[in-house]
Amino acid sequence: MSTDPAFWDRIAEKYARQPVADPAAFDRKIAAMVAHLRPDSVVLDVGCGTGSLALRLAPIAAHVHGLDLSPEMIRIARGKAAAAGAPSVTFHVGPFDDSFTALPDGSVDLLSACSLLHLVDDRAAALARAVRLLKPGGVFVTSTACLGESWIPYGPLITVMGWLGKAPDVTIFTKATLADDLRRAGLVDVQAPDVGAKPEIAFFLAKRPG
Ligand SMILES: C[S@@+](CC[C@H](N)C(=O)[O-])C[C@H]1O[C@@H](n2cnc3c(N)ncnc32)[C@H](O)[C@@H]1O
Repeated sequence: MSTDPAFWDRIAEKYARQPVADPAAFDRKIAAMVAHLRPDSVVLDVGCGTGSLALRLAPIAAHVHGLDLSPEMIRIARGKAAAAGAPSVTFHVGPFDDSFTALPDGSVDLLSACSLLHLVDDRAAALARAVRLLKPGGVFVTSTACLGESWIPYGPLITVMGWLGKAPDVTIFTKATLADDLRRAGLVDVQAPDVGAKPEIAFFLAKRPG
């Protein structure tokens, strides 16, 4: 399920400078995650980018891990953690697949995948990996662009932007497809709290059966 890190390395500095697109929705998503955290919680944020979410969750959990395949994204994330004096955050470079062994299976209380699942080559494999890493009863959270919800012809647009080096490979699907994928991966209690995000953004919480 790996993708080429080169695109993300190239845009990492610009990505880090951009403000959060929808701060109010971001805050509500964080509140929904925090409601599932305890002081002894272990969190893994996959596709963590420059670490904004990991750093927001760090004060609430025992330890937050961030994983991203882009070395540049992680370099910036580590710099932000150092500047913030956040010792309980660890950032890892690598793809989210079976090569990620920094955490044992069944060890994660909350696993987040934000703006990632439309980018992976094999969504089912990514979700299966997430479920294995979660503790029984652990919480999976995703915020995912479901471009199949839009009337805009994203397919050809993204193809052309990809030719110009301005977009990564993106898979287009609907919210209903993503919810089905979560259930097929074995997650239960799939919920979609209204966080006020744009209509094409799916925000789901689900649980590994406990
Ligand atoms: C759109 S950014 C989202 C960053 C962050 N989660 C956020 O919401 O701001 C997508 C990130 O996922 C990373 N990524 C893409 N495919 C990945 C994979 N297979 N494994 C790990 N990281 C991946 C990219 O390097 C990039 O930093």
